[in-house]
Amino acid sequence: MSTPSRDESFATLLTRLRRDAGMTQERLADRAGLSVRAVSSLECGDRRPRRYTVERLAQALRLSAEQRAVLVATAEGDRRRLPEAPSLPTANASAGPLIGRVAEVEELRAHLAGAGPPVLAYAGEPGIGRSRLLAEAVAIGGGWGIPVLTAAARRGDEGYAPLVHALADHVRRTPAAALAAQVRDCAGLDLLLPELAGRVRRLPAPTFPAATLPVLSADQARRLAFDAAVRFVDAIAGTGRLVLVLDDVQWAGADAGDLLSHLVRRAGPQVRVVLAYRPADVVAGSRFAQCAEELGRLGMVRTRVLRPLPQSEALALVDATAGDTPLGAGRQARVVRRAAGVPLFLVELTRAAGQDESEDVPWHLRLAVGRELAALPRPVFALLQRMALIATTVAVERLIADDMPTDQLLEYLDVAMRFGILDETRRGFRFRYPLVREILAAGLGPGRRRLWLGGKAHPHD
Ligand SMILES: Nc1ncnc2c1ncn2[C@@H]1O[C@H](COP(=O)(O)OP(=O)(O)OP(=O)(O)O)[C@@H](O)[C@H]1O
Ligand SMILES: [Mg+2]
Repeated sequence: MSTPSRDESFATLLTRLRRDAGMTQERLADRAGLSVRAVSSLECGDRRPRRYTVERLAQALRLSAEQRAVLVATAEGDRRRLPEAPSLPTANASAGPLIGRVAEVEELRAHLAGAGPPVLAYAGEPGIGRSRLLAEAVAIGGGWGIPVLTAAARRGDEGYAPLVHALADHVRRTPAAALAAQVRDCAGLDLLLPELAGRVRRLPAPTFPAATLPVLSADQARRLAFDAAVRFVDAIAGTGRLVLVLDDVQWAGADAGDLLSHLVRRAGPQVRVVLAYRPADVVAGSRFAQCAEELGRLGMVRTRVLRPLPQSEALALVDATAGDTPLGAGRQARVVRRAAGVPLFLVELTRAAGQDESEDVPWHLRLAVGRELAALPRPVFALLQRMALIATTVAVERLIADDMPTDQLLEYLDVAMRFGILDETRRGFRFRYPLVREILAAGLGPGRRRLWLGGKAHPHD
């Protein structure tokens, strides 16, 4: 049995020790008196290792005293490392191995090493694997010993979120002495990060509204706070580099765009930003969109649009997800066909297929896709539902109806193409992802099915 290394996460270490011991997850679970699901979640990094569990696992694996000590220490380390603020959902051990994306990783490495503009932005459809690549950025930066600041925006974020969360998270994780050195020249940073009050020199408080006392206006305070943030990231980078990783920036607060743009333009070239966004969710004309446009115009952003995985990589992802319980050729092929290269679909359909014999779409995937579809204008959604019942590829002629002028129909089809749901082919309009068609069709009651199909109750190809 090999010796554990302290650099591994608990999840990776446990998996390795189990394999070294020649045990399946079932066998380990049985010997440790745990459920297979618990062992699997621990190995995926989905679950925090409890002390009691770690002891049982160590016994079941018959670890040496030294190995046991490292397993316990790694579990403790993982517990401490777990972030409190919103953070990248996949920037941890649960990400699993990265499949494919060879050119993207090469580009990412070059970016982190300092090549090209300061911002690398991943775009692409929901579930296409943007967060997974950000997790890779975190891993590469961490592996190189570069400080990595991360945060993910959430729907409804306001103000400086998530950027300020990334900074706050760094403050929390940095030992006091190192932090004191980093904030030495950052007077005013407490205007953005109140947790630093007392640790940075104070500026006069802003007035709301302007009072007669000679104090800062809100604008002046904001500018000084922004400059302080620039000095802060420069100080964290020091003579090396710093990586700022931001996920789902389409939901960033209105002020976050201004702060990010200020940081990117003013901080030194050692600050490397990697971010991800869903193009369809960017609100045109929003403050954040304006800032992004401005950075783009200045040549400071390189955008990489992620595409679905090619067939061979899709198969590899299914295999990697299935792990010790491969699906079998038939089911594997069906998952790959339904998912059409979208990693989220591949992962979730594989998990569902592994858990039971049915090939139903897991409910959370149905919800996730449903939420995306809900963003469509109502008539476009209704049109897509109708198409979903007809076939994967539908000729326009079949859609022309008395109650809808043709140019209106074409406009709706255009919208569906912009949302990445349909592609135009020579034979007509085709659902890009069979799974989306399935979900649309499944959302219809039998009454409407009959109405639209003239008696035929099931969609067919
Ligand atoms: N290249 C890859 N190799 C292995 N797993 C991947 C790859 N790309 C994505 N995944 C996995 O597929 C799932 C979906 O990917 P991810 O969450 O990165 O997509 P996303 O584009 O960030 O989606 P969302 O629109 O929900 O933010 C995750 O479980 C992720 O770990
Ligand atoms: Mg994501």
